[in-house]
Amino acid sequence: MIILGIESSCDETGVALYDTEQGLRSHALHSQVAMHAEYGGVVPELASRDHIRRALPLTQKVLHDAGATLKDIDAIAYTQGPGLAGALLVGTSVAESLAFALNIPALGVHHLEGHLLSPLLEENPPAFPFIALLVSGGHTQIMRVGGIGDYELLGDTLDDAAGEAFDKTAKLLGLGYPGGAAVSKLAESGDPTRFKLPRPMLNSGDLNFSFSGLKTAVLTLVNTHQPLDEITRADIASAFQQAVVEVISSKCMAALKQCGLKQLVVSGGVGANRQLRAALSNAAQKQGAEVFYPRLEFCTDNGAMIAFAGAMRMKSIKAGSHAFTIKPRWDLAEVSVPL
Ligand code: KG4
Ligand code: ZN
Repeated sequence: MIILGIESSCDETGVALYDTEQGLRSHALHSQVAMHAEYGGVVPELASRDHIRRALPLTQKVLHDAGATLKDIDAIAYTQGPGLAGALLVGTSVAESLAFALNIPALGVHHLEGHLLSPLLEENPPAFPFIALLVSGGHTQIMRVGGIGDYELLGDTLDDAAGEAFDKTAKLLGLGYPGGAAVSKLAESGDPTRFKLPRPMLNSGDLNFSFSGLKTAVLTLVNTHQPLDEITRADIASAFQQAVVEVISSKCMAALKQCGLKQLVVSGGVGANRQLRAALSNAAQKQGAEVFYPRLEFCTDNGAMIAFAGAMRMKSIKAGSHAFTIKPRWDLAEVSVPL
């Protein structure tokens, strides 16, 4: 079966073709980062309009790249939520109307389910059950994944998401938006020991996170070291990154121990962070566990993870009326019904 996947929940239009026999056939992405950068954040209306421009050309591209035609598609999976309402409406309406025209079923997929299953697209994927760390611009969650649709939330952020903390720190350091990758790059030349930042909730005894205090600590550092020279900026970036990485790594290892599991899956944009990857691999090795990542380009939003999650839920795809709704706010617990 061939599934077309369409992702449009935020500022990336992602389309992919997944074949249940052959695996991922093709994928294409358009990032709106450059368009939103001058506003310092995502402008929802501009995002929606750009998704309209990109969705069909990207669909044509993935079909062309896979040597397929519209007639070869058996079903369409699309991100139904959570995300920006207008942006979701674009992908959803394109998917449902295309499915209606082709007389094939369509299925709304949970964006976070896409993220947490994305490492399964790689060779040597983890086997269920595993612990999943989801670290993106909007989420910082640790879950126990028992199978498709079997998701138990073990820990969550009480305030800012890890990616949000990276983005806010980037702003304070005068780096562009989104700033996670830029902070990470700057941190490489910094000294992580010059400034001692707090490790929020490190010893809280649970698997929850809090990052807003860390952002305030960065703000205080920035204010007390004006004007910021290059070395100080790098040292602050480095201290910040070290604090985030240490807390995330420690909680993930605790989750593995708590559940008696040896496999950790990492997904979401912050999963691209090199220091986080190194720390997780290092810590996991010490307790005989293994870490699985999607390839770098699938850490951030993409169509492949949506096509794949749709394929995994194939059984629940039914030919329907093609009437549609979107779910801008949607708790993953609602799709946590083992298949
Ligand atoms: O998963 P994603 O593409 O979108 C959401 O669904 O949120 O994640 C985007 C987030 C942004 O906050 C971005 O700054 C962060 O991931 N990010 C990084 C890195 N690359 C992207 N954070 C830290 N280090 C990176 N290398
Ligand atoms: Zn995402």
